[in-house]
Amino acid sequence: MQKQAPIHIGIIMDGNGRWACYRNMARTQGHLEGLKTAKRIVKASSDRGIPFLTLYAFSTENWKRTAEEVNFIMGLIRQHLLAQMDFYRENQIRLRFAGSLSSLSKDIADVIHEALSITASFSKMQVILAINYGGRDEIIRAANRLISVGLPITEETINKNLDNPDVPDPDLIIRTAGEYRTSNFLLWEAAYAEYYISDKLWPDFLEEDFDAALSAFQKRIRRFGGLKDEQNH
Ligand code: IPE
Ligand code: IPE
Ligand code: MG
Repeated sequence: MQKQAPIHIGIIMDGNGRWACYRNMARTQGHLEGLKTAKRIVKASSDRGIPFLTLYAFSTENWKRTAEEVNFIMGLIRQHLLAQMDFYRENQIRLRFAGSLSSLSKDIADVIHEALSITASFSKMQVILAINYGGRDEIIRAANRLISVGLPITEETINKNLDNPDVPDPDLIIRTAGEYRTSNFLLWEAAYAEYYISDKLWPDFLEEDFDAALSAFQKRIRRFGGLKDEQNH
């Protein structure tokens, strides 16, 4: 039985819109509520000593949504980062970024840069914010960097040119709202991640649901293409 706790957890925070629709609210209200869950789960991860957590906050495909929804999500991220630096300081959480920062609007990009620099020396845990992130986009950007410096494309050179090369591959990927797909999240890094799907909508996802994901992970047998413990199964 696999007893180790995950070093790196990725979360596809899905179901905000449905949460709001079921309550006859605007989808944006779901995002507001979802942000509260994100903070709750960051704290829970920090309390449980998880070293790395990646939160999928906005995909390269989420630009297809209405301008109102996109602007609301960007505004929420911005406000959160402006208002919550004490939370990150108190918990000694370093913020990192995954995605294409250069194509975000300047007001949001500036706040992200600022948050990365304020938290750069915090060392209890790292939270990677995946914003304007797509797994394909990340691989393409890595490949283009290799081409531009004339390096061969190998597993190692791609690894070294991903957005956060020092962050270990995710062990566990949690997706809420009962959807069984990756939606372009950490395509390269998740090659051997364990997936855990929760039927809860993200705004309803509680610490106990997070613990359920952690205990499910502990029961998984990871083979990485090889054979289990004693070689025979
Ligand atoms: C996830 O919730 C948040 C983002 C994609 C930004 P959704 O907004 O996708 O919620 P549903 O899937 O429509 O319920
Ligand atoms: C994935 O959720 C993206 C984020 C959680 C940021 P989506 O709601 O965008 O994914 P699909 O459209 O259901 O695949
Ligand atoms: Mg969704």
